[in-house]
Amino acid sequence: MEKFKYPDINPLRIEMSDECQVYKGLEGICVKESRICYIDGKGSRLYYRGYNIMDLVEHSKYEEVVYLLLFGELPSREELESFERKLASKRRLPDGLRGLIRSLPKDSDPMDFLRTTVSAMSLFDDGGDETEKGIGLIAKAPVMLAEFHRYRSGLEPLEPREELSQAGNFLYMMFGKVPEGSEERVMDRAFLLLADHGLCASTFASLVTASTLADIYASITTAIGTLAGPLHGGANLQVLKMLEEVGSPDRAESYVEGMLKSGKRIWGFGHRVYKNFDPRYRAFKRMAREMAELRGRMDLFETAEKVEEAALKRLAHKNIYPNVDFYSGLVYYFLGIPQDLAITMFAISRMAGWVAHILEYWEQNRLIRPKAKYVGELDKKYVPIEER
Ligand code: SDX
Repeated sequence: MEKFKYPDINPLRIEMSDECQVYKGLEGICVKESRICYIDGKGSRLYYRGYNIMDLVEHSKYEEVVYLLLFGELPSREELESFERKLASKRRLPDGLRGLIRSLPKDSDPMDFLRTTVSAMSLFDDGGDETEKGIGLIAKAPVMLAEFHRYRSGLEPLEPREELSQAGNFLYMMFGKVPEGSEERVMDRAFLLLADHGLCASTFASLVTASTLADIYASITTAIGTLAGPLHGGANLQVLKMLEEVGSPDRAESYVEGMLKSGKRIWGFGHRVYKNFDPRYRAFKRMAREMAELRGRMDLFETAEKVEEAALKRLAHKNIYPNVDFYSGLVYYFLGIPQDLAITMFAISRMAGWVAHILEYWEQNRLIRPKAKYVGELDKKYVPIEER
């Protein structure tokens, strides 16, 4: 057989790769077709599998929305009950994972904790295909977070209770008592509202990992690392800190003025896609008011509302409006969830969307490998160090 002949490489002429357009932050670039989530950034509408989020918040619940995101359609009653049983059956943590959690420093940053233990889940994996592993992650993530919180607080561990909902079991494992119906409903809606949001930075990052055919644990670990940044998932915690700094409703105006004058951003405002209100912000605001009244903390809610008004006055003309993070942290606070767990609350909700998008991407997988537009020099002459 004839010996393979390598093509000539012309040592003199560098074929500069075809000119490529740089889209900073991949703004406006589509990297896949999807049926999972649609964001109408101008019309302030958000759809999960074609259903308006406001209908889902009103009529659905987290487990049903997880089923919808993963499998594409609302379940029948039997399908939902079977799925709820499956989720509940996957909550229990392997002993080794629980031991790992209880060996970590008690003052671990919660997002570092979550990223570490989700990554470690692959070492305790009990088998099944990637969908099964994904459902296991959705089921276990809230349990892991509650387990960590009890451990760092010096509280005895609790076993998950399969008869409780995802939201009910989470609050039970956090605080050791089965939540009131109203609290469970608020927690459930908060999980639902953050379940997915298209190709946000963390979801896109997970697809980059998944596109190499790394497993779902590696892909979700990437997502958690990406969500941690204050420009993305970290904003809800920054909003809580901002409200602490403001202190009272009458200081809101001067605080916002000062922040903007010094070129700082108002946390919980602005969005790459929404150039109008984020529909989720309205739902979280309603729940924040409801919980503030329940807790007798209307002062804190009114401080947030005054910051919102002051910021809108100065930013709405630039199409910068409140986003999901502006009131979500307050809802967690009023549920008794420690401030430093705010970002992890976002992560355990978004586990569903991450899994759904990874599974969808794998259906027509393509390695994600963009280019950089090279603007450096070429063929520079090497100068020995003695002559430099
Ligand atoms: C989430 O992508 C998703 O879907 C994310 C998310 C999800 O569910 O996954 O919705 C969750 O991440 C919500 C966003 C949470 N982050 C914050 O609240 C942090 C504060 N917001 C911003 O930093 C900012 O609005 C971004 C990062 C969210 C979006 O910014 P872009 O699209 O990159 O816009 P930009 O940074 O280029 O800003 C454009 C202009 C700038 O002014 P100029 O330099 O043109 O004069 O708007 C200004 C910015 O300074 N601006 C703000 C502002 N956000 C943008 N000015 C004051 N306060 C703000 N919050």
